[in-house]
Amino acid sequence: MIKRIGVLTSGGDAPGMNAAIRSVVRYGVHHKLEVIGIFRGYAGLINGDLKPLDHRSVSGIINRGGTILETARCDEFLTESGQLKAVEVLKRNKIDALVVIGGDGTYRGAIQLWDKWHIPCVGVPATIDNDLNGTDITIGADTAINTALEAIDKIRDTATSMKRIFVVEVMGRDSGFIAVNVALAGGAEEVLIPESSYDVGEMCQDIVEGNRKGKNSWIIVVAEGAAKADKVAEKITEMTGLETRVTVLGHIQRGGAPTARDRILATRLGATAVNLILNNEFGKAVGVQDGRINAVDLHRAVEEKETVVDPFYRLIRILT
Ligand code: F6P
Repeated sequence: MIKRIGVLTSGGDAPGMNAAIRSVVRYGVHHKLEVIGIFRGYAGLINGDLKPLDHRSVSGIINRGGTILETARCDEFLTESGQLKAVEVLKRNKIDALVVIGGDGTYRGAIQLWDKWHIPCVGVPATIDNDLNGTDITIGADTAINTALEAIDKIRDTATSMKRIFVVEVMGRDSGFIAVNVALAGGAEEVLIPESSYDVGEMCQDIVEGNRKGKNSWIIVVAEGAAKADKVAEKITEMTGLETRVTVLGHIQRGGAPTARDRILATRLGATAVNLILNNEFGKAVGVQDGRINAVDLHRAVEEKETVVDPFYRLIRILT
């Protein structure tokens, strides 16, 4: 019988994590569970950095970016001795089950806890990269796209006024999700993503051709995992003789108030995670597919996500 649950956020923070924490806490308390907040993800779990949370502890956070539980990337948790310390902390504090909120690394940690140490875990997908399976969209991705889009709209104003080529680098080490979405929504002329090969030489020929016909400003969106924006810009200037500028949006994309879509998603998924625990369904990750809330095995959730960028990528290239 589950009486006390822990909740943690781990890996890169994502807007909407706070809304998910709030939902886990309040839904859990409503169902007579005690909820313990674990600070700084798996690092805080290893060090016993815990605090009981009640209804009031999560007041006024639904609209805040970041995570009140703080977060970290924790190498020690990758080791067996680190995991053993974490398990001891859970046992000592009588925590019967864990809700982990985060991305791929967070889920892989939960898989270790469940498969190797039989700690009941449920995952809530929160990462701006939207690179988890079992959910069409992860918490934080919508806000990140909107943040990047706002910046790109502003860049377009100066790009057209000064007839320049802008190379804009967005986040996504292994994922072109933000890049293709923001390129489509912002009307970018080109997008480079880690999932697809590209040819800068060919892109430069298109630019020269367009320039000959009178086009004189471009927005080229580059996912950080595809190329470094400054290198792409240098190459364009070298091959076309046209003026380029570079903007690296960086961590600005991870902050800010979550959009309504992210808050709603986080709230629904937080409650669903608690429901799974109440039903003794562990080793799963919650998500939303075709508008329906569902859950998949954590192992499935971390398999490579197949279809997320391709249709958008193709459309951008047609519309250019
Ligand atoms: O959280 C995902 C992400 O923002 C990636 O898009 C990016 O590559 C990475 O995290 C950056 O990580 P860090 O903040 O640890 O440098």
